[in-house]
Amino acid sequence: MTTTPESGLTALRGAAGLQQGDLLAVLDTVGLATAAGIVVRELLARCGPCTNSDEARVGLAVEHRGERSEHVLVLRPGEAVRLDAGPAPAARLTFELADLVRGVYGPPPGPSAGRFRVERDDEWFMDHADEAEPFRIFESYMRAVDTIVQAASPRASDLSRLSAKYASDKWGLWHWFTPLYEHHFERLRHQPVRVLELGIGGYQDPSEGGGSLKMWRSYFPQGQIFGVDIFPKHGLDEDRIRTFQGSQDDPEFLRRLAAEHGPFDIVIDDGSHVAQHQQTAFRELFPAVRNGGFYVIEDLWTAYCPGYGGAATAEATGNTSIGLLKNLIDDLHHEEWTATEPVAPGPAADHVVGIHVYRNLALLEKGSNIEGRIPFFAPREIDYV
Ligand SMILES: C[S@@+](CC[C@H](N)C(=O)[O-])C[C@H]1O[C@@H](n2cnc3c(N)ncnc32)[C@H](O)[C@@H]1O
Repeated sequence: MTTTPESGLTALRGAAGLQQGDLLAVLDTVGLATAAGIVVRELLARCGPCTNSDEARVGLAVEHRGERSEHVLVLRPGEAVRLDAGPAPAARLTFELADLVRGVYGPPPGPSAGRFRVERDDEWFMDHADEAEPFRIFESYMRAVDTIVQAASPRASDLSRLSAKYASDKWGLWHWFTPLYEHHFERLRHQPVRVLELGIGGYQDPSEGGGSLKMWRSYFPQGQIFGVDIFPKHGLDEDRIRTFQGSQDDPEFLRRLAAEHGPFDIVIDDGSHVAQHQQTAFRELFPAVRNGGFYVIEDLWTAYCPGYGGAATAEATGNTSIGLLKNLIDDLHHEEWTATEPVAPGPAADHVVGIHVYRNLALLEKGSNIEGRIPFFAPREIDYV
């Protein structure tokens, strides 16, 4: 029996909530070309208004069992997204057909990382950079990519929408953090949280930046949001947002800040991203997070940049954010250590109870990490083989 667009649509909608093997079998029957055609048309219809400033041509590839169906989407500001036949040289999104069908027609699976691939031709962006606004075309493209990704998501993410609205780079520009943040922060959303973010944005310009502070203020309607930057940002102060000038590498300043305005429910390090500064901020501010709260480190990629105090490879991450996380995994289990001579774990060992590491983002959960080691009568070696 041949699949018509109507019967194909019915099949996809019916299969979107099935377990993976059953969904793949339905997709085999419908066929990649027909299924991709149906789901891409649905995607176009769901795309909200284009928020990109300049025309963007984004490639959209849909893969199934090693085959791919290629499409080009054109996003012009103020117009509906449409399909086109021309080239899409600068950015391409790739989805597994099954993921896309689940995203578009399935029940909300909750936020997860890595539901799609983004490939960019950074040289193309450098060639097309405007001297006055070098990032304009890049940002326009990433906003366009975001429009498509949002349409492919089963549940519009509030935090992604707020990130785009306030021009924070936590979603769609450099990073894809917001659904992950939502996953962890949802339970705190309507609490009177105190959120401290290191790094306000906008660098030297006193009136620029503050995107993420505004995003957090909107996301946490009862929250009090604090921001720290080495440059003065007081022009951004408003109800429920307070800014402070200081360095995350200044222990004295951080201690005073914590004493006067802590404890915090959430601390986010999105400041200099210099390895030593990340260590200082963690050492001084993790103690100022309450139990049940989070300490977050963004931009882990700088651990691999010598220019940020990192190491070029994985072998020698040392005193970087990645080195800190590796040590914390050991510290989380310090009660289980079997050395006969006592070895002291790191100072946070009794209080880190969860380590959630995603690409370029780590969320550390605070609590009481004392539960007693596995009982002494559990053998520490295998004696049955
Ligand atoms: C990536 S931006 C922050 C973006 C912002 N959090 C957002 O998501 O919209 C980094 C900011 O950190 C600030 N910064 C750099 N070094 C710092 C330091 N040592 N202490 C505090 N802030 C610093 C910069 O001035 C810049 O404004």
